[in-house]
Amino acid sequence: MIVDERMRTYINSLDMGNTPFLDELEQNALSERVPIIRKEMQSFMKVLLAMKQPGRILEVGTAVGFSTLLMCEYGPPDLEIVTIENYQKRIPIARENFRRTGRESQITLLKGDAGEILKELDGTFDLIFMDAAKGQYIHWLPNVLRLMHRGSVLVSDNVLQEGDIIESHYLVERRNRTIYKRMREYLYELTHNPVLVTSILPLGDGVTVSVKQE
Ligand SMILES: C[S@@+](CC[C@H](N)C(=O)[O-])C[C@H]1O[C@@H](n2cnc3c(N)ncnc32)[C@H](O)[C@@H]1O
Repeated sequence: MIVDERMRTYINSLDMGNTPFLDELEQNALSERVPIIRKEMQSFMKVLLAMKQPGRILEVGTAVGFSTLLMCEYGPPDLEIVTIENYQKRIPIARENFRRTGRESQITLLKGDAGEILKELDGTFDLIFMDAAKGQYIHWLPNVLRLMHRGSVLVSDNVLQEGDIIESHYLVERRNRTIYKRMREYLYELTHNPVLVTSILPLGDGVTVSVKQE
């Protein structure tokens, strides 16, 4: 927990919720233990969408399509989203959610490993949302940068890993050590790469917002 629990509860108590469909999808996802963006991340995304008014979004990590549909709902009406997911079980559920909301024509769901798909993508996106395998972000970054133009925004979720990325190597479970090490490398790169300006925010599970400058 990187934010005091009482403060988080208070902030979330002010949240007005989303559309009935999104609220139901969120409840279903939580009860099925499907990881989706937290309440505080949802409202942050809504603000970014209102500020940026993106025409094209790339999302890495669809799960059942909750954040994809939230971005469709609160982004501009002609928004196009390309979203990537590799977990076979979740793909038909996401597709069905896109169909039920009549958003199929706005969303392209690409099945497969993001590392492979990112290499093949062309063109640029106004906003890229990274919400998949956290240990891979650093490896995907060169292709992500290639897919950004000047002014594109890169949002990466769960970058502080419940605060564990600053814990001693010896206090962290062995299986997480590599992920945290790679995440620290990713944060270093985002904050030191001369083409990016980045802010690391202790919001939700930690989020970065980076803007490409050239
Ligand atoms: C946190 S969930 C995404 C949640 C979604 N963005 C939302 O808020 O509704 C992360 C998803 O990324 C997918 N994922 C993990 N590694 C991936 C990879 N290498 N390629 C494609 N998808 C991946 C997982 O299967 C999982 O469904």
